[in-house]
Amino acid sequence: MNTRAPAIEARQLIKTYGGHVTALDGIDLAVERGSVFGLLGPNGAGKSTTVKILTTLARPDSGTATVAGHDVLRHPDRVRRAIGVVAQGSGADPVATGRENLRLQGRLYGLKGAALEQRVDELLDRFTLTEAARRPVKGYSGGMRRRLDVALGLVHRPEVLFLDEPTTGLDPEARSAMWDEIGRLAAEEGLTILLTTHYLEEADRLAERVAVVDRGRIVVEGTPDALKGELRGDAVHVELREPLGDAGRTLLTGALRGVPGVHEVLADGHRVSVRADDGAAAVPALLAALERAGVKVATATVARPSLDDVYLRYAGRRYSETEALVGAR
Ligand SMILES: Nc1ncnc2c1ncn2[C@@H]1O[C@H](COP(=O)(O)OP(=O)(O)O)[C@@H](O)[C@H]1O
Ligand SMILES: [Mg+2]
Repeated sequence: MNTRAPAIEARQLIKTYGGHVTALDGIDLAVERGSVFGLLGPNGAGKSTTVKILTTLARPDSGTATVAGHDVLRHPDRVRRAIGVVAQGSGADPVATGRENLRLQGRLYGLKGAALEQRVDELLDRFTLTEAARRPVKGYSGGMRRRLDVALGLVHRPEVLFLDEPTTGLDPEARSAMWDEIGRLAAEEGLTILLTTHYLEEADRLAERVAVVDRGRIVVEGTPDALKGELRGDAVHVELREPLGDAGRTLLTGALRGVPGVHEVLADGHRVSVRADDGAAAVPALLAALERAGVKVATATVARPSLDDVYLRYAGRRYSETEALVGAR
C-alpha cells in the first residue's frame, strides 16, 4: 500500500434520499494519515451521510472514496477491517455488561482466548471502565457509554477511526474527558481519526484540519488557525433591541460599510456582525452610525475571530441559526 496516500480520500460524493433530499452535493475530502480531521457542520449538513458512505454503510449516487487505501465501493470488506466506527447512536447492547460487549465485538473480528481477554482488559483500563465492567451497560452514565462505544470501535486495532458526534448529549465534564481521550488516541497510537461535530469548540480543540460542511457541501477547509487567520481584524458583534426587517438590514449594512476601518458587515434579525481592523477603535463610530439609523443597541462585544465567524463568512448565516432553521422544519 502506498503509505503516503491519504488515509481517507473522497471525490465528488453525491447522495440524495427519496429523489429530492440532497444530503451530499459533491463532497471532496483528503485526510492525512495519523491526523485528526474534523467535519464541522450544523444538524442536517450531511456529516453522518458522509461517514456512512466512508464506512461502507451507505452507497453514494456518484463519486468515489478510498479509506486506508481501499475503495469503499469495490472492496467494502477490506475497508471494514481497516476501520473502527463509532456511530452517532450507541452501538452497545444495554443488557450485556461492558466486558461482554467488548468480548462479543472482539469475537466478531476473530479474536479469541487469551489474546481476546488481554485486549478487553486493556481497553477497559484505558477507558476507565474496569470497575464498571461487570455491570450491564443500561446502568452506565452517558459518558461511560460513550467511552465504551469508542472502546468497541478500537477492539480490532483499526487504522482509521470514525467518530460521529462523539460528545453530543454529554455533560461538560464527560465531554472534556472524552476530548482528552480522543487527543491521546491520536497522539499515542498514530490513528487517523475523522470526527464529526456540531460543536465549534470541539473542532477547534481536537482537529488539526477542519472542513466546514453546509447543505451537503464543503464551504471551507483548513487548520482552525488558518481559517480564523483569514478573517482580517477583530469581530464586533452588536445585539439589537428590536429585530431588523429586510429593508432596515440593507440600509444599515450600507451605512456601516462606510465606517472607517470596517471591512465586512453581516446583519440578520437581531444581530449585526462587523469585521474591523481594530475592533475597539471602531465601536464608537459603529454605535454612532447605528444611532443615526435609529437602531437601538442592547450590547456590543469585540472578539478575536472564532470558527463561528468563519462559518458566518462562508455560509452567509450564523451557526446557531442553522440549528434553529433545522429545528423549525
Ligand atoms: N435515511 C434518510 N432518509 C431520508 N433523508 C435522510 C436520511 N438520512 C439523512 N437524511 C437527510 O439528509 C440530510 C443530511 O443528513 P445527515 O447526513 O444525517 O446530517 P448531519 O449528520 O450533518 O446532521 C438531512 O437533510 C437529512 O434529513
Ligand atoms: Mg449526524
